[in-house]
Amino acid sequence: MSDSEVILCLLPSIVALFLFLILISRKKHQQQSRGLNLPPGNMGWPFLGETIGYLKPYCATSIGEFMEQHISRYGKIYKSSLFGEPTIVSADAGLNRFILQNEGRLFECSYPRSIGGILGKWSMLVLVGDMHRDMRTISLNFLSHARLRTHLLREVEKHTLLVLGSWKENFVFSAQDEAKKFTFNLMAKHIMSLDPGEPETEQLKKLYVTFMKGVVSAPLNLPGTAYRKALQSRSTILKFIERKMEERLKEGNENIGEDDLLGWVLKHSNLSKEQILDLILSLLFAGHETSSVSIALAIYFLPGCPNAIEHLREEHIEIARAKKKAGETELNWDDYKKMEFTQCVISETLRLGNVVRFLHRKALKDVRYKGYDIPCGWKVLPVIAAVHLDPLLFDHPQHFNPWRWQSNITRSSSSSTSYSSMTSSHFMPFGGGPRLCAGSELAKLEMAVFIHHLVLNYQWDLADLDDQAFAFPFVDFQKGLQIRAQRQTNFI
Ligand code: HEM
Repeated sequence: MSDSEVILCLLPSIVALFLFLILISRKKHQQQSRGLNLPPGNMGWPFLGETIGYLKPYCATSIGEFMEQHISRYGKIYKSSLFGEPTIVSADAGLNRFILQNEGRLFECSYPRSIGGILGKWSMLVLVGDMHRDMRTISLNFLSHARLRTHLLREVEKHTLLVLGSWKENFVFSAQDEAKKFTFNLMAKHIMSLDPGEPETEQLKKLYVTFMKGVVSAPLNLPGTAYRKALQSRSTILKFIERKMEERLKEGNENIGEDDLLGWVLKHSNLSKEQILDLILSLLFAGHETSSVSIALAIYFLPGCPNAIEHLREEHIEIARAKKKAGETELNWDDYKKMEFTQCVISETLRLGNVVRFLHRKALKDVRYKGYDIPCGWKVLPVIAAVHLDPLLFDHPQHFNPWRWQSNITRSSSSSTSYSSMTSSHFMPFGGGPRLCAGSELAKLEMAVFIHHLVLNYQWDLADLDDQAFAFPFVDFQKGLQIRAQRQTNFI
């Protein structure tokens, strides 16, 4: 019997089982919520709840129709049923902060099971408790400030120049692919010392593309689905990493180099082989996809704000001229610290583009917030994008305005606020609390160095004005963000 015939035969039993589970879970939730003051909302269809509406793609610089309608109907905190579970959705800045700060006490990270299936049960995204803490310590050590200064800045610049140096004038090409090439090469080097362009690096890149398609697809482990293919890629990628691991172990513990993450964990941690494989795979995932989308978003937003490009260029020309005068070629940490307006551009890109739009949590206890009850066991989704695009918190939120991040911006009227203090407390592109992104500083460094060389060497325009960033909910340019670039040699 073929795979599809087996599925057809089993279909009625699967449907019956689903219905049975729905009935049980509905009953359980009715009992759970009795006597509680739940936020208003709609639990939608059995099992599916409102998931399809919630995940419907929309323009990445908006919160989407679903969210808009729900907020206007129910307010910023509402109940729903998403990903097969009763859920509290929060577009409320205060509740989002409260959820993230109370990780492990009142709330806990809780990604859908399919994420664990594909990233691995030891992936940092799904681990909780002591094991999460241990893995996080390793990642933070490896991404420490000291390593950024001594190792990573140099590598980031090298990989930036490699990618930008390959751009052909007046050709139309996908800036999204170029950004992906840059961040993948950087992570492959940093994690396993793989050099760009080498056959094994290219092989890993190919496997990784299939893997990524599955991470962002519906978790249907059926023949021919993207998810099934991604699981197959996962196992090939793991074999690849395992081979690299064995090569290192053959060298003997004292000879293992510590320049990359693989060498570092083999030498300094007590992790099992399975744990190391999942750690490497999940860092490759966490560190590559998000940063590349952020760089693509900066390339996309900037042409719409020529003043910002001009301001950036002034900042970077000054840095480059000072270096030329001092006879230096490579960027150093002091140069990076001078990129102040660039940091405003980075913050604004992350605020408006919202690479990570919402996080997955569950309540560990019954929690009361602003008079509403969040029952123990319910899923909780802090939607950070909704806060970043809230007109009550950010003036003209749809407008790309890097100047809003300058600390000296104050308004004269009494009703207005200083942007600096208000914006920063509601700004959470990297999450918050004990699970704050371990690679946030690296991500900002990558963006800044890329922007430095981009504005010094190129002028670019968008070749297809219809190609917008969409939230699927992962952010992506459907046509790859096609641009046309002209090299500039006369800026310095
Ligand atoms: C602009 C780029 C990036 C964005 C927007 C971003 C965003 C985030 C967010 C929102 C979280 C929290 C997830 C949660 O709480 O459920 C997170 C976690 C994480 N990120 Fe990033 N990230 C970026 C780049 C990176 C890079 C470059 C790396 C590493 C090389 C990295 C490594 C991690 C790790 C290891 C975690 C898990 C932290 C933990 O669970 O303790 N990220 N990231």
